[in-house]
Formats: sequence, C-alpha cells, structure tokens
Amino acid sequence: MELYLDPGRRGTLAAQLYAQLREAIATGRLAAGDRLPPSRTLAGDLGVSRFTVAEVYSRLTAEGYVTGRAGGGTVVTSMLAGEPAEHAPAALQPTDRAAAVERFDRNPTQTARFDLRPGTVDLTLFPAEAWRRAMNRALRAGADHYGDPAGTPELRRSLAHWIARSRGVAATADHVVVTSGAQHAIDLAVRVLTEPGETVAVEEPGYPPVVSLLRTLGADVAGVPVDDDGLVVDALPATARLIYVTPSHQYPTGVVMSPARRVALLRWANANRAAIIEDDYDSQFRYDTRPFEPLQRLDREGRVIYVATLSKVLAPAMRVGFAVVPPSIHAAIVALRQCIDWCPPTATQRALTELIDDGHVDRHVRRAGRVYRDRRRQLLDALATGLSAPHRVIPGLTGLHVPLLLDQRVDDRALSRVAARHELMVGSLQRTYHFGPPPGGLVLGFGALPTDRVAGAVAALDAALTELRRRDM
Ligand SMILES: Cc1ncc(COP(=O)(O)O)c(C=O)c1O
Repeated sequence: MELYLDPGRRGTLAAQLYAQLREAIATGRLAAGDRLPPSRTLAGDLGVSRFTVAEVYSRLTAEGYVTGRAGGGTVVTSMLAGEPAEHAPAALQPTDRAAAVERFDRNPTQTARFDLRPGTVDLTLFPAEAWRRAMNRALRAGADHYGDPAGTPELRRSLAHWIARSRGVAATADHVVVTSGAQHAIDLAVRVLTEPGETVAVEEPGYPPVVSLLRTLGADVAGVPVDDDGLVVDALPATARLIYVTPSHQYPTGVVMSPARRVALLRWANANRAAIIEDDYDSQFRYDTRPFEPLQRLDREGRVIYVATLSKVLAPAMRVGFAVVPPSIHAAIVALRQCIDWCPPTATQRALTELIDDGHVDRHVRRAGRVYRDRRRQLLDALATGLSAPHRVIPGLTGLHVPLLLDQRVDDRALSRVAARHELMVGSLQRTYHFGPPPGGLVLGFGALPTDRVAGAVAALDAALTELRRRDM
C-alpha cells in the first residue's frame, strides 16, 4: 500500500505514518493477517530513519492493531481490523438518471433446490472438456496486443457461417461485431442510432434490462402492446426512431411474430425511417415448429440490426454475443466499441472459433435441445395437473421459459419471501410491465432445473402460491 509522508504537513513523520497505518487497518484496507513491510524496507522506501518506523510499529502493537511474530514480521490482528469508518464519505452521488436504475438481479449467484428463474441454462450439459481443450490451446498461443474492436476475423467468419446456417441470417464476417453478450450489442446500436431524448419503442410487456438500459441512455422509452401476432405495429408512436423487438420469442409472452406482422413492421420502419433491433436471444432451441424467418432476412433497406447471444446456447457468463449490422453503421459501431473497451478478449474468441468450427456448438445445441424439449414437456404436464390455482400457461415454441398467468395478484416481494421457504426461485412477470399495471403471473424458466426435479418444483410452487392466497384472504 502507498503511504504519503510530507515534512511540510502538521505533525511529525512518525505521527503521520501512525495515523495512515491505523486508518488503513480500521477501514479494512489492511486486513487481518496482512503483513506490514519489514521496518528496514519501509524506512528505506519512505526515506525516514528505521527508528521512526520501529517506534510506530511498537505503538500499533501496544494498541493491539498489529502483533509482532518472531521471525514472522509484523501482522495485522483480527481484533480491530476492518471496523467500518465512522462516517463514510459521501461527496459523490450518482445522477438522478443513474440512481433510478435498478439492478435486474440483486443476487445472480444465489441458488435454490428448485430454480425456475428465466435466463438460466443447464450448465451440466456445457461441453466443458472441449472448451477446456480449446481454451488451453488459445492460451498457449500467448498474450496479444489490443485486438480488432469488431472481434477477430476468424471468429466473425465462424459466427457469420453459423448464424447463416442455423438461422438463415444474411451475414458475412464484415457485418459481424462480436460483443459482450446481447445487451452490449443493443447498447452499441442504441448509442449509434439515437440521440438522448429521442423515442425508442419497446414491447410491453418486455425485457427489463433493455428498458433500464434505454432509460439510462436518456431515451424517451415508449411501450407498445403485444398481441397474438407480436408487436402491434399500428400502435407504434410516429416519433419512434428505433424499435426493439424479440420477434422469434417475445419476452416474456413467448408469442412468435406472424409473417404478416413482420412485413408490416418493416414497412412501418421504412416509411418512418426508423431502425429495428431484432433480439434473437434464444430461438436456437425450437420445439415442434418450423424455423421463423428473421426480420433481418426480409429487410431490403438495411434497417435491421440483428442481435444474437451465446448466453443460452453455451453459458451466460461466457459473455459472448454479436450483432450483424448494416454496412452503413458498421464503422460507427466499431469505433464506439473501441472507445468503450477496445476489443473482446482474444483468448475466448480463439477458443470459441475452434468450438464452432469443430462442430461442438451444433452438437451441443442438438443434445441440449433434446433435454430441454423433454423438460419443457414435463413442466407443462406438471403445471396442468399439479397447480391448484386457476392459471393459464403460454407454452411458446422456442426458448427456455414459459409465462404463467394467474388470477391472483402476485406481489414480487411477498412471493420471494414465501418462495424461499419452499426452496424455490421464480421469475417476475410484474417486472416485465413498465408502462401499466401487470396481470397476475410469473415467468418460469426451465433451463437450470434438473428434469428429475420438475415435479418437486411444481409442488413447491403450488404450496407457495397457496400460502400467498391465504395471506391475501
Ligand atoms: C430478451 C433477452 N435478450 C437477451 C438476453 C441475453 O442477453 P445477454 O447475451 O446479454 O446475456 C436474454 C436473456 O435472458 C433475454 O431474455
């Protein structure tokens, strides 16, 4: 740690040194067990006599802050270390806009026996061995200088082939920008395409982290209803410069945007000179249905930014997503990305390129898809037979979650308290409504729930909902 002694300041050098070491221990910057430098070394570093340092160390020892160990130097004791400072300094405050942002997930590392949160995947299916080997090879290649802000050409080529093959997206490596997840791609696109204060339309209900992001960026966010055909195009505000949609699997309702609605949305964007962000976050996992043609493929004017992620395909914490962007905004997106964090991590990119090129990703999607299909079926059956509360499930045709609509109002706070008692975690439907009162319901993710726990999870859910109903009576 750095210590600053100034002969021009009030107090002797010994007093200054004592005060700084004591403060470091009291605030936890020096933790219990940390070793102070030998007095000779510290005296040399600070340009003071060894006697001065020894005097300070013996005072701290006498007061119990440190203890001298024979041959082991001077060590911070546990007794007094880490006491909070009396007055936490509070000179800095976030702006109102930043202070209004709520964390989407307060405790992402929390676990529960029955984890029905959306946005999760089955990590036991992750091709760990292939990933380890690919990562080892990537690291053996050594360290890199700053890389291409759009991503390595090799990964961009692999992603372009993969997304063209699996989703029919019209992409070449030159149009791909590798990002830190879908959310980062959306952030870049919004910043490049809108000024603060302009209108951005989102689906209502919709994906909360994107609504928060837009508000943080100063957008005038407008909610547009969703019906059985997807976003209601006729309800778009004429001022919308940008429209954020999840057409292949509307979040959270699961509705697939009909072909006619897709055409209508593109027509609207053309007529109103607006941009569209197409978030295709989980449609690699499809159930009993033909693939849905991406908006990006139907786009003739270059108005669609197609966004995809490996969060569902592989693992969320890998933080890899990408955008396929029209050539007219590609340079601006890449320049902005470089201003923010220069480039994606190169070792991860090399390893991921290998995983895709060797067919591991395709094989994993097929294998995991079979598991998720079975799990989803079991969940739908268990809800049909095991839930006593009047309810409706919208099964959806892709992805890893289903919304559960209930007659009863569900207050998030009360629910999470009751759910915890039943070893249960569920997703909030309430939080996906940003512009009006939400209906009662939940969002149930089945990615992380082991298939053999589905029945137990529905029983726990039933018990939790029954308890909530009783409390409300
Ligand atoms: C609508 C939507 N978009 C994107 C994502 C994934 O985002 P990311 O790639 O940033 O993890 C999710 C994850 O649950 C989602 O529900």
